Amino acid sequence: MIKELQGFFDRVISVKLPENREYVDIIDQTLLPNEEKRIVLRTREEIWEAIKKLRVRGAPAIGVCAAYGMAVLANQYSAETYEDFSKAFMADKDYLASSRPTAVNLFWALDRMGKVVEENSSMPLDQLKDRLFDEAKAIQEEDIQISRNIGEIGFQLMEGLKKPGQPLGIETHCNAGTLATAMYGTATAPMYTALDKGWKPEDMHVYCDETRPLLQGARLTAYEMNKSGIPTTVECDSMCSILMQSGKIQIIFVGCDRVARNGDAANKIGTSTLAIVAKHYNIPFYVCAPSSTIDPEAKDIHDIPIEFRDPEEIKSEWYAKPMVPAEVEGYNPAFDVTTHDLITGIITEKGLVTGDFEKEFQRLGIF
Ligand code: MRU
Repeated sequence: MIKELQGFFDRVISVKLPENREYVDIIDQTLLPNEEKRIVLRTREEIWEAIKKLRVRGAPAIGVCAAYGMAVLANQYSAETYEDFSKAFMADKDYLASSRPTAVNLFWALDRMGKVVEENSSMPLDQLKDRLFDEAKAIQEEDIQISRNIGEIGFQLMEGLKKPGQPLGIETHCNAGTLATAMYGTATAPMYTALDKGWKPEDMHVYCDETRPLLQGARLTAYEMNKSGIPTTVECDSMCSILMQSGKIQIIFVGCDRVARNGDAANKIGTSTLAIVAKHYNIPFYVCAPSSTIDPEAKDIHDIPIEFRDPEEIKSEWYAKPMVPAEVEGYNPAFDVTTHDLITGIITEKGLVTGDFEKEFQRLGIF
């Protein structure tokens, strides 16, 4: 994809493994957009904390970080028998799984790593350690191809809506971009594909919802779009109705953290508001979902666990002084679920899914 941007992608790629394989190297997303700083995670506590505190975040990136994290931890084990190795591995895997509950990619990636251990009980431990690094790398590389496929499908939808001489208005929520994945993002992949296919940056205009309370849209997506040269505007989440009413938005792309069998999709808090408003104004609303985000175990909205976070994120984060009286409670769900009836289509790497989502997922072999 777009050669000129490769330097940027390589610099901010969410998760890297150094050649000595001694630690996981992540860009600390809590410091962006002011500081591009990479940090080192060596211990299970450091990996857990980085996921919990959103230093690494975005469903696919969390999965990649956990996978490399398990490979790095396993490489440190001094166990001499498979039984001891496997016991230590499963304990660390359970520990990392307790960091955040909503993004199914975390559990999907940890289970994939766990399977490598379970299925290779007779392999020499040194070889098994190498196998784990290979699996983590495969998870990361597959995610890059997944973004490319999602980008192609999303771009076709963009082309269908583009009017000559007018930039296509795209709205997105939170960050489902490079920082949230292995390279091109999910919700941003169609924009990068458009550049690849010859669109000029000014052929589109990306409206990034600020995304209260942790500002992933403002701090991360607007930062990525800006670095890519794509004209970008940031608006508060509460402005989505007037923005859509103004006629500036032709299409909405969002990411997701867990999609149930029936198409109900959990994503960053505020996504369902956007979908409800989009339906009102008749604006197509697409969820970009790698099949690793589709949870065959979840029947519908009721099976998706929602993370609740520290109310201080609302009351005092970003402010010089707290903006809510100390005695007042804060309500801070980190995700909401957009029910399938509000979703125009779900873009997976295997195809665009519309209509009866469950049937279509099955047809594509997703579950
Ligand atoms: O709490 P976050 O920042 O991890 O939430 C992330 C999102 O909601 C993303 O939209 C989602 O993980 C998809 S990333 C491709």
